[in-house]
Amino acid sequence: MSDLVLVTGAGGFIGHHLVSYLKAKGYRVRGADQKLPEYEPSAADEFLQVDLREPEACRRAVEGVKEVYHLAADMGGIGYITGNHATITRNDTRINLEMLDAAMDAGVERFLFSSSACVYPQHLQHDPDVAGLKEDDAWPAEPEEGYGLEKLFMEKLCQYYREDHGMETRVVRFHNVYGPKGTYEGGKEKAPAAICRKVALTPNGGTIDVWGDGLQTRSFMHVDDCVEGLHRLMRSDYPHPLNLGTEELVTINELVDIAAEVAGKTIHRNHDLTKPQGVRGRNSDNSRLRDVLGWEPQIWLREGLAPTYAWIAGELDQAGRLPKTEAMEKSA
Ligand SMILES: NC(=O)c1ccc[n+]([C@@H]2O[C@H](COP(=O)([O-])OP(=O)(O)OC[C@H]3O[C@@H](n4cnc5c(N)ncnc54)[C@H](O)[C@@H]3O)[C@@H](O)[C@H]2O)c1
Repeated sequence: MSDLVLVTGAGGFIGHHLVSYLKAKGYRVRGADQKLPEYEPSAADEFLQVDLREPEACRRAVEGVKEVYHLAADMGGIGYITGNHATITRNDTRINLEMLDAAMDAGVERFLFSSSACVYPQHLQHDPDVAGLKEDDAWPAEPEEGYGLEKLFMEKLCQYYREDHGMETRVVRFHNVYGPKGTYEGGKEKAPAAICRKVALTPNGGTIDVWGDGLQTRSFMHVDDCVEGLHRLMRSDYPHPLNLGTEELVTINELVDIAAEVAGKTIHRNHDLTKPQGVRGRNSDNSRLRDVLGWEPQIWLREGLAPTYAWIAGELDQAGRLPKTEAMEKSA
């Protein structure tokens, strides 16, 4: 068996960062995705551009591979995941089943599945001042429709394949990952990127639209912490689902204010109550994460949002889309 590792979803946000992280650690890396990374070439030694809903594509992807970081999924921000239940559930079920079977048949040593905080019961997330979600809270289940249900189903499949077939599986539950080089427009972007884009495109003193009343709360994890956590979990011997996020709970209004501060602008908020806002409050409880890995994410939101904003504003500037005054200031 070689030391080759596979990252599925390597053309996506977290997968792309993970490939770079693993390369820097000295791994040989194969990436697989139906699309190439959008903003820069992949650092992977090999990159398969394939549709992982297809069994043959999964077989090719896992050939000669020792470990799989399985990140490929049809997903997006709250608008996308609440508006496409059938498509998302169908696509992700197919990708996950085919990848798990292909990995088992190929004798892959470890298989890490990227699940989500969307598996947690809705009724535990009705209050903005929410208690952190603990891993055991996931059952009895009442996950986010579609996307969360499918993630929970795959978590169980990983458990069953481990118990019945002896396959070494790892399951991580991400809580809202953000950072540079992620989708920032088009409908699949998440709140931090969407807000950075809106702030960048709005002149100082202007107003941006915020989905919901802005009092809904979340915690956000920088992608550098995310990829480090993924690698630490893969190296651990912990087979059960594990939260990976921060416990720094902020309202969406606070997120806007931090982005505005980073941008050096005064930004007003127009709350659009017709738009989906997801659960009212969601935070991670990292007690188990600290116990299992002896580590937790380190990057505070203010610290991580600065380079994220700078990258998004830079992209928009290059495309000639920044408000005139700022574009001129930058080039002066
Ligand atoms: N970003 C977050 O905040 C977050 C939160 C919870 C869970 N997750 C999970 O983490 C993983 C990575 O998320 P991300 O933010 O990098 O998302 P992303 O959308 O940027 O990346 C997912 C990648 O999967 C690829 N993909 C989708 N369908 C495919 C198919 N049929 N064949 C091959 N590739 C396919 C997409 O092209 C995309 O590049 C996903 O499983 C996601 O559900 C992410």
